[in-house]
Amino acid sequence: MSHLIAPSMLAADFGNLQRDVEMVNQSEADWFHIDVMDGVFVPNISYGMPVIKSMKKHANKTMDVHLMIVDPDRFIKDFKAVGADILTVHYEACTHLHRTVQAIKAEGMKAGVALNPHTPIAVLEDIIRELDLVLIMSVNPGFGGQSFIENTYKKIIQLKDLIEKSNSKAIIEIDGGVNDQNCPKLVTAGADVLVAGSFVFKSEDPKKTISGLKNCF
Ligand code: DX5
Ligand code: ZN
Repeated sequence: MSHLIAPSMLAADFGNLQRDVEMVNQSEADWFHIDVMDGVFVPNISYGMPVIKSMKKHANKTMDVHLMIVDPDRFIKDFKAVGADILTVHYEACTHLHRTVQAIKAEGMKAGVALNPHTPIAVLEDIIRELDLVLIMSVNPGFGGQSFIENTYKKIIQLKDLIEKSNSKAIIEIDGGVNDQNCPKLVTAGADVLVAGSFVFKSEDPKKTISGLKNCF
């Protein structure tokens, strides 16, 4: 499969959310990446269910929801109800990760697990076969517009190896600081999905920028 592009709506203009959702609809992007932050797991608050529900009304692509919240089990059903197709939780925020992953799947969503930059790939060894997606954070979660952490390439290669060895179907998503410079290197290393926020929405022609990322390799 050629790599997928998931624009991060965190960088959209919230005063013109419908316009920005429609821009993504019309672009070569594959998914909507939706960042939920609780001010506890990460030092920032973004948006929650009502905003996601509003985006879903206009969105015609996969809703990829990235939860940066503690104890996500409390809200799994609510995210399903507002339109999440993929629900990703943080390894660092889940005491009973296996149970959380099963609960996500039981709601009919794809289950993802995200790893902070300091968390080694090896912690996924006993869960990788259960996962549809692994999200490698290439910045510290909480804010858009940060610079890409170079150690990410090594982690992609390690994760790819673990996925193959374990016969897992998980795909690899990279989130944070993605741009046209690191895009080809990320895809070469084995990334399947690239999230891009600022690089897309702060550009002069976001649709063209998405197309550039989609065809960077
Ligand atoms: C960061 C979020 C990212 C963020 C990416 O905590 O998970 O999805 O929006 O933004 P950029 O592409 O600007 O680094
Ligand atoms: Zn994200």
